[in-house]
Amino acid sequence: MAEVIDLGEYGARFREDPHPVYAELRALGPVHRVRLPPPDEHHETWLVVGYEEARAALADPRLAKDGQKIGVTFLDEELIGKYLLTADPPQHTRLRALIAREFTMRRVETLRPRVQEITDALLDSMLPRGRADLVESFAYPLPLTVICELLGVPDIDRAAFRAMSTEAVAPVSAESAYDAFAQLAAYLTDLIEDKRCAGPADDLLSGLIRTTAEDGDRLSAEELRGMAFVLLIAGHETTVNLISSGVHALLTHPGQLAALRADMTLLDGAVEEMLRYEGPVENATFRYAAEPLDIAGTAVGSGEAVMIGLTAADRDEFRFPAPDRFDIRRDTRGHVAFGHGIHYCLGAPLARLEARVALRALLDRCPDLALDGPPSGWLSGMLMRGVRRLPVRW
Ligand code: HEM
Repeated sequence: MAEVIDLGEYGARFREDPHPVYAELRALGPVHRVRLPPPDEHHETWLVVGYEEARAALADPRLAKDGQKIGVTFLDEELIGKYLLTADPPQHTRLRALIAREFTMRRVETLRPRVQEITDALLDSMLPRGRADLVESFAYPLPLTVICELLGVPDIDRAAFRAMSTEAVAPVSAESAYDAFAQLAAYLTDLIEDKRCAGPADDLLSGLIRTTAEDGDRLSAEELRGMAFVLLIAGHETTVNLISSGVHALLTHPGQLAALRADMTLLDGAVEEMLRYEGPVENATFRYAAEPLDIAGTAVGSGEAVMIGLTAADRDEFRFPAPDRFDIRRDTRGHVAFGHGIHYCLGAPLARLEARVALRALLDRCPDLALDGPPSGWLSGMLMRGVRRLPVRW
């Protein structure tokens, strides 16, 4: 039996800065048996921390997403419905084909003017204040507004939605996760019903509702709710953290910030380095061995859970030399911040567009941007990496 490493023993500092722990684990080997930290301390899983092994595991069809293959029904699936990240081919292929064309680079580029407008408006209301919590005033509302407009979800109650959405991806307890998913399920059911009653419209969710009504074989009512869920949640929770962690990295590396300000053609590379250095998705969503398999010499039994470390992989020194150095000019090709394989992030072009527009505008309009205290409220759980508050002044 493999030794079980209890990640809970690292305490709060593991949440604030997990990188030294992942470095320790990588030095011992690419795959480990771990017990998760609270609130998931009753769960053991395999954790992959080496870059090559992580990339291979992300593309391994024997690592399934669909709980049915191993006789498990997940909480999100039970309450919300099947969706891209809990489906395997051929269901996954069918679901992804329904929306893939909406998120191509070319299609997303047409959103640029509107993303710029939303960004400018947020900065217009933030800048007169002289100081702010960047998450609350900028990093959070920007991607939420963009994905809501795209889906056709007007007038969202931002505070209420933020509470349930963040709790779903970074729960503080098992009970609160259940409540968050139950609330989200009720919210999404009402939302779909309201849109159905409101009649035809030219947004993504209306299009999916039409598909369900006309051709339920292509998208069942349950799958429709799952799709609304994954697009709304994945479409903003992640990008918030790219913007806030990216700004934090720049403000704590004045040389890199000065280099970027002096030459804004470095911006696209800087965003890639932000993704590599402090990716918003710390670990990919769980996969399960559909059959016994071997990952880098470690035997994984049928039905066992496997967690793939994206931030751990992106700091593997065998792939990225001096991995703890934030260097906006480095070659970041092959980073796995958006995953890899068939579940590769559908929204990567949109996330990149939003981050580039947001950072350019923020740096342009705040020449004296600085930290106004330490970041706080590190997200709990092992899925997301980010903070709830980032105080800045300018
Ligand atoms: C910086 C921002 C983002 C990051 C770091 C990110 C990261 C990821 C990662 C790592 C995965 C794969 C998870 C896994 O394999 O377990 C994923 C999947 C996904 N992402 Fe993103 N994401 C971001 C933004 C977005 C946006 C803006 C959207 C909006 C549509 C989006 C939609 C999705 C969807 C639908 C999937 C599931 C794809 C599938 O299973 O086929 N993401 N994302």
